Amino acid sequence: MSENAESSNTISAAQTTVKAESQKGDYPDFMLKEIHEQPRVLRDTFAGRFDAQSGKLNMNEIPLSTEEINAVDRIYIIACGTSYHAGIVGKDMIEQAARIPVEVQIASEFCYRQPVFTPNTIAIAISQSGETGDTMDAIALAKAADTPIITITNVADSSMTKESIATLQVLADQEVSIAATKSYTGQLAHLALLALYLGQERGTISAEDISSAYEDLTQIPQQVESILSESSIAAIEAAAATCYKAHDVIFIGRGVAAATCMEASLKLKETSYVHGEGYAANEFRHGPIAMIDAEAATPVVALAMESKTRERMLTIIKEVKGYGGNVVALATEGDTQAANLADSVIYLPRIREMYLPFTAIVALQVFARRIALLLGRDIDHPRGLVKAVVD
Ligand code: AGP
Repeated sequence: MSENAESSNTISAAQTTVKAESQKGDYPDFMLKEIHEQPRVLRDTFAGRFDAQSGKLNMNEIPLSTEEINAVDRIYIIACGTSYHAGIVGKDMIEQAARIPVEVQIASEFCYRQPVFTPNTIAIAISQSGETGDTMDAIALAKAADTPIITITNVADSSMTKESIATLQVLADQEVSIAATKSYTGQLAHLALLALYLGQERGTISAEDISSAYEDLTQIPQQVESILSESSIAAIEAAAATCYKAHDVIFIGRGVAAATCMEASLKLKETSYVHGEGYAANEFRHGPIAMIDAEAATPVVALAMESKTRERMLTIIKEVKGYGGNVVALATEGDTQAANLADSVIYLPRIREMYLPFTAIVALQVFARRIALLLGRDIDHPRGLVKAVVD
C-alpha cells in the first residue's frame, strides 16, 4: 500500500470513529446505549403483526404456503455465539407453538456433521451481521440438500439474505458494541412471532392463544423499560458490585432461563474476561456445584422468576447458600421468599414463562457491563474480538 493510500485509510478510519463516537449521545459507551434501545427495537418488531379483526398474525416475509408449512417435519437452526443462544430459546418457542422438532446447531460444527435433511426440512440461520463465515458454510451445506433457508438478520442486504427464501429483518439498526445486546432481543422477537405464525398455519395453537401471546409480547417493551429504570439499574449494579472480584460467576436457571444463562455468561466473559458458566440448574448439581468455594463466596446468579420450576430453584438456592455461595437471585417483583433466601435480589416484572428471556437477559446485560466497568475494561472493544467473524 502506498504511503498516501495508507494515510487516506487512516483518516477514513479515524473519521469513522469520530462519527461513531458522536452517535453515542449522552451514553458513556455503545453497549449501554444499545441496551437502552431494546424497548424501541421490540416495539417496532411487534407493531402491526396481528390483525384483531381477522384474528390472524401476519408474516408476509415467509413465502411458504400453509400446505408447505404443514409438511415441515424438521427445522435446523444454525448460528454462532449470541445468535446461537437466541436459537436455543427459539427451539422451545417453535416446538411449543408449532409442534415441529427443532435442532439447534452451532454452525461451525454443523458443517462437520452429517445432518439428516428430509425433503421437508427447513433451516433457520440467525446472524446479527449476516456475514459470519461459519454460518455461511452451514447455509451452503443446507442449500446443497435443497433445504430452504429463512434468515433472521440485522443486515438487510447481507450475504445470508441472498442465500435465503426469506429474511426476517431484525430492527436493531447498526450495533456498534462488540457485545450483542439489542440484536439478540430483536432476534428473540422474530423467533417468538415466527413460532406463533407457524403454529397458526399448522393449527397447533388456537386463535385465542395466539391473540393472548401476542398481547403479552406487546407488553415486553414497557417491561424492559422498567428494568432499565434508575432504581432497577441501581439494584442490578449493586448486585454486580458483590461479584466483580470473583474468578468465576455461575448462572443457573431452568428451561428457557437456562438458555438465558448461557447468553449471560457469554456477555460476562466477552466484556469483563471473568469466567462465566451457564448451567441448567439441576444439571449444575451433577458435578459443577463443587466449584462453589465458601472462602471465595463464589457468585451464583440464580434465575428464579415465577415459572413451573421456581420452587425447585428456591431449593437449589438454599443448597448453594449451604455451600457458601454468594447468591444473586433474579425473581419476580414481590417475591420476598426468593429475596430472603438470596444475598441480593434483582426484581423483574411478571411475564409469560416462555418470554422470560426477554427481560432476564436485559438485567444480565447490565450486570455484565457493570462488572466489566468495575474491572476497567474497554466496554465496546473487548480484546481479541471483532464484530463479525467472516473467515
Ligand atoms: C456476541 O456478543 C458475540 N460478539 C458473538 O458471539 C456473535 O454473536 C457471533 O460471532 C455471531 O455473530 P453473528 O450473529 O453476526 O453471526
